[in-house]
Amino acid sequence: MNLMRKILVAQATVLALWAGSAQATTDEDIAQRIKPVGVVCVQGDECDKAAVAVSASADGSPAAAAGRSGDEVYSKYCTVCHGTGLLEAPKTGDTAVWQARADAKGGLDGLLQSAISGINAMPPKGTCTDCSDEELMSAIQSMSGL
Ligand code: HEC
Repeated sequence: MNLMRKILVAQATVLALWAGSAQATTDEDIAQRIKPVGVVCVQGDECDKAAVAVSASADGSPAAAAGRSGDEVYSKYCTVCHGTGLLEAPKTGDTAVWQARADAKGGLDGLLQSAISGINAMPPKGTCTDCSDEELMSAIQSMSGL
């Protein structure tokens, strides 16, 4: 009888241990399953460097990491207005007009500032929301000829 009791206690102990570890595994599994799939990284924030590195290399092209050329940005985002002078945008290659604007803003840096913030019918960053300041500057230089 005493032996039977011991066996039962031993079994109960094993069962309790098993249940405890099974629970732990389940909690981990749940944590794995409900963890966020990704994180939102807003420009200007300190973001996870690893994630940024992954997204840069996932893009594949080394040009993406080094920045797009002025012509690339211009032909994708700016030409729609600046190519034809739509909404009275200063036209590409109309260097005298661009020069006058640059003079009024204290140089190309002043133009860059209004391109970043947007001005009248000109949308912020000329709709290239992921453009760096350098990329915008290159685009301004390639369309103004300055
Ligand atoms: C939706 C049309 C549109 C797009 C797209 C657009 N622009 Fe413009 N942009 C304008 C208009 C309109 C003006 C003139 C605004 C004014 O002075 O009233 C302008 C003016 C500018 C100026 C002169 C600002 C100043 O202070 O005189 C710069 C620089 C400029 N754009 C850069 C860019 C760049 C770079 C891109 C592309 C990344 C771009 N724009 C895309 C419409 C556009």
